[in-house]
Amino acid sequence: IPVDPFDLTIFGGTGDLSRRKILPGLYRRFRAGQIPEGSRIIGAARSEMDHDGYRDMVRAALDEFIGTDALDPDVVAEFVSLIHYVAIDATGEKGWSELKELIRSDHISAFYFSVAPSLFGALAERLQSNGIADKTSRIVVEKPFGRDLASAQALNATLAAYFDETQIYRIDHYLGKETVQNLMALRFANVLFEPLWNSQYVDHIQITVAEIVGVGGRGGYYDKSGAMRDMVQNHLMQLLCLIAMEPPSRFEPDAVRDEKLKVIRALDPVPAEDIVRGQYAGAEDVASYLDDVEDPESLTESFIAMKVNVSNWRWAGTPFYLRTGKRMKARSSEIAVVFKDAPHSIFGSRSGHHRNILTIRLQPNEGMTLTTTIKEPGPGGMRLIDVPLDMTFADALGQHEDLATDAYERLVMDVIRGNQTLFMRGDEVEAAWAWTDPIINGWKERGDRPCSYEPGSTGPEEAQIMMHREDRRWRGIQE
Ligand code: BG6
Repeated sequence: IPVDPFDLTIFGGTGDLSRRKILPGLYRRFRAGQIPEGSRIIGAARSEMDHDGYRDMVRAALDEFIGTDALDPDVVAEFVSLIHYVAIDATGEKGWSELKELIRSDHISAFYFSVAPSLFGALAERLQSNGIADKTSRIVVEKPFGRDLASAQALNATLAAYFDETQIYRIDHYLGKETVQNLMALRFANVLFEPLWNSQYVDHIQITVAEIVGVGGRGGYYDKSGAMRDMVQNHLMQLLCLIAMEPPSRFEPDAVRDEKLKVIRALDPVPAEDIVRGQYAGAEDVASYLDDVEDPESLTESFIAMKVNVSNWRWAGTPFYLRTGKRMKARSSEIAVVFKDAPHSIFGSRSGHHRNILTIRLQPNEGMTLTTTIKEPGPGGMRLIDVPLDMTFADALGQHEDLATDAYERLVMDVIRGNQTLFMRGDEVEAAWAWTDPIINGWKERGDRPCSYEPGSTGPEEAQIMMHREDRRWRGIQE
C-alpha cells in the first residue's frame, strides 16, 4: 500500500538498534519504492554531528548490516539524501527548535523512541511543548515496556499524558515476523484447521524459541530481566495469544487486540512445579552465564520452560508448553500443535503410535509442516509411518524477495500507514505483567535457584522430566 511522504525521527539514532535494524530496514523499504520522495529520516541523539557526519554513519551501518556487496550505490546515495541529523538533549532545551524546522506540517510525522524508557516521558513532553507533534503524529516505543505491572502502568500513564492510545505504537518485533502473521492466515483464511483448534482435538501446544547466542555484551540489562521478562512476557506471550485467541470479527487493530487481551486474562497462575528455570554452564571456550554477567551469585534464568493453562471453554485441558533459552543447540523458533490420537485404531497395536502435528516454523526455514500418517509403501501389510506435508515457504513460493523482509521494516511501515494491528495496546501489556509478576515474585521470595544446563544443549534435564511426568515429550530442536 503506497504511503504519503512522511518525516520519521529516530531518537537514539546512533544506537545499536538504529544501526542494526531500523536504518537497514528503511533502506530496504526505500529500495522497494515504499518510501516516497520528499520524506525525511531524521536521526536525533546526544552526539555532536552534522548531517553529513550522520549520513556517513548510516552508510557504515548499511555496509555492516546489509553487506557492501548487496548494496546498490545509486540507491544508497538517494537514500542518504533523505537523512538528516539533530544533536538533541532529551531532557534539556538543545536541538528541539532545529528538529521542529526539519519536520513539515503537511507530512505525517512519526517519532521512534529507541532510547531508555526513563526518557520516554521527557521526549513526549518536549514533542508537545515545542509544538512538534500534532494529533496525527505517531510515537513508537520499544520493549522493555516496564519490568513489572507498576512500572508498565507508570509508563502508560506518562505517555497517555501527551499522546492518545491511537498514536502509540508499542513494538513487539515477533509480531512483525512473516510466519507469525501467516499463523493468522492459516487459522482464519482456511476452513480446515479452525474446527479442530480446541481441546477436543488438540492434546497440547509447544512454543519454543531457542537461541545459540549467550548474553555476553548485554549482561547488565539481561541479568536484571532474565528469560521470563526478556522473552516470555512479550514474544512468547504474543505467540500464545495468536494461537489461542477467538477469531476476531475483522483483521483490525482493536478487534485483534481485544481477543488477545481475553486470552491473557484467561491465563491461570502457574505453580512452581510447572516451571523449570535454567542457567547455562560454561565449556572449554564458552563462558558460563555467571561469567557473562560477572556475578557468581546471580539467580537470573537464561532458560525457562513452563506449562501454561488457558482457562476458557476452547482450551481447558489443553496445556501450552513454553520454552526459551540462550546458548542452546540451535537457533530455532517453532510452534507445534500436537493433535490427539485417533479415537480408535483399526490397524491394531503393531501399527504404532501416531499423531498429527502441525508445526509452524518461525525461523529459520520459515514454513509449516503437517505430520500426517500414511501407509508405508510395500506389500508387507498395513504398516504406518508419519510423513510431513511440507510447506517450506521458500520452496512453495520460490525465492520470494519479500520472504526476507525483516520484522522491523514491516512494523515501521505499518506505523507510517497508521495500522496498529501488530502493535501491543497498553492494557495488553499491563495484563501480561499482571500474570508475570506473581511468578517472578514467587522465585524471589523463595530464593529459587535455576538449574544448570550445558551450552549447546536443549536446556536442563529437569525440563524434560517436567514433560515426561505428563507422558509428553519436547520436540527436538532442529537446526
Ligand atoms: C529480543 C530479546 O527482544 O529478542 C533478545 O531482548 C533476543 O534477548 C531477541 O535475543 C530474539 O529475537 P530474534 O528475532 O532474533 O528471534
